[in-house]
Amino acid sequence: MESSNNAFSQNNQAKDLSSAMRYIAEPYRIRVIEPIGQTTRSQREEALAKVGFNPFLLHSKDVFIDLLTDSGTGAVTQSMQAAMLMGDEAYSGSRSYFGLKEAVEDIFGYQTTIPTHQGRGAEQLYVPSLIKKREREKGLSRDKMTVISNFFFDTTQGHSQWHGCKIVNVPVPAAFDTKVKADFKGNFDLDLLEKTIEDIGPKHIPYIVSTITCNSAGGQPVSVTNLKEVYRIAKQYDIPVVMDCARFAENAYFVKQREPGFSHMSIEEITHLSFQYADVLAMSAKKDAMVPIGGLLAFKDDSLDDVYQECRTLCVLLEGFPTYGGLEGGAMERLAVGLYEAMREEWLESRIGQIQYLVDGLEAIGVQCQQAGGHAVFIDAGAILPHIPKDQFPGHVLACELYRVAGIRSAEIGSLLIGRDPSSGVQLPAPAELLRLAIPRATYTQAHLDYVIAAFQLVMNGCQNLKGLTFTYEPPVLRHFNAQFVEVA
Ligand code: F0G
Repeated sequence: MESSNNAFSQNNQAKDLSSAMRYIAEPYRIRVIEPIGQTTRSQREEALAKVGFNPFLLHSKDVFIDLLTDSGTGAVTQSMQAAMLMGDEAYSGSRSYFGLKEAVEDIFGYQTTIPTHQGRGAEQLYVPSLIKKREREKGLSRDKMTVISNFFFDTTQGHSQWHGCKIVNVPVPAAFDTKVKADFKGNFDLDLLEKTIEDIGPKHIPYIVSTITCNSAGGQPVSVTNLKEVYRIAKQYDIPVVMDCARFAENAYFVKQREPGFSHMSIEEITHLSFQYADVLAMSAKKDAMVPIGGLLAFKDDSLDDVYQECRTLCVLLEGFPTYGGLEGGAMERLAVGLYEAMREEWLESRIGQIQYLVDGLEAIGVQCQQAGGHAVFIDAGAILPHIPKDQFPGHVLACELYRVAGIRSAEIGSLLIGRDPSSGVQLPAPAELLRLAIPRATYTQAHLDYVIAAFQLVMNGCQNLKGLTFTYEPPVLRHFNAQFVEVA
């Protein structure tokens, strides 16, 4: 396996100097420039009203700093760009596919690979296929069908619910308490996991999803020990485990920093080891692997061969022939390189340093944040806007105000996102009302982060006057993307 511990760790000059600074000097040069426009407050007010107070629906030309997501929005590397030119665009059996498959086998130790257009492309293949297997083999009952995760990302939850599953999240109790600092707030509560399996009955559980890092809990890492225990418990009950691994390298970086016994290991070694504790890999490659578009579905061995075959069939219907799965040959080449680049330790250190810098700056002006995670800063909107009830979406109100004040786009992670139980229509309880500022990789500078902190100072000054929001249009599934609102009088 290629090692990323290159000149940086041998020559610590940049690191030594950085320790005297508040911030780590970026271990790369920026050589392509994308201009961004500025708007006035009245232009932003008009733009926001026009899209029904949903920043998701804004035109990007009206956004100055876009922290909506770190998905497909970051910089790519020279090597990735160069690889793009090497694409084999054969409809089937492309050389680029076999190169990607080889990289997946090398990095994760998984034997079979299906490329997909992005993470949810993988979900639309494995979710129905694993459900069908359970039904066929164990007599799963449709009305009891339940899936479990440390915390489901919204599309994984959406696909599972779309196919009739109830979802249960079993995070550790401290996961959403922004006052608590702990090394692995993304972990599963193992006792609760086991109790939930016993209560539901294992045959009604088609899969367990280990989400690394745990996006919804604030990009918080999951320890290798926890992943191992989850896998042991799942095996005991004969339930397949899916690793939802968009941010696999950030997770490995935290493990190296924090988990006893891992500090001497490379990011590559920790990654390889972590993936022993799952059967299926489902990845949005738009995050750590840095591609603008792409995803992966892979199987560790032939124990789920029937599911793999079913996924290949569905892939032809939904994504494309299984040796391209919705990606052009060049994009598969770029992804194979991006998977390796993702694990460069010095880049991970710089990136996670940026998140910590923003958390420190916000906390210094009294903004309550979840402890720094891997890809984003999560702000406790519930604590900042205690006068706005959950069903008027304090996180979303804060997102609108941040845009009005400074042209910064962000996203709510709370009651709006978690939505309703599809069968009863009752609002599901959100563990916290958060606002996420997701940081695209190697895209914004320290000055941009200082601008965000300054903007928050203005938001905080006027926050007691902000009003809640209520729906004028509420879509039936994944409602936060397309919903429209008005201010509560
Ligand atoms: N799983 C996780 C943990 C994710 O964070 C995402 C996407 C997906 C699956 C779905 O992947 O977008 O490529 O189809 N997260 C993005 C975000 C959208 O902003 O956090 P996708």
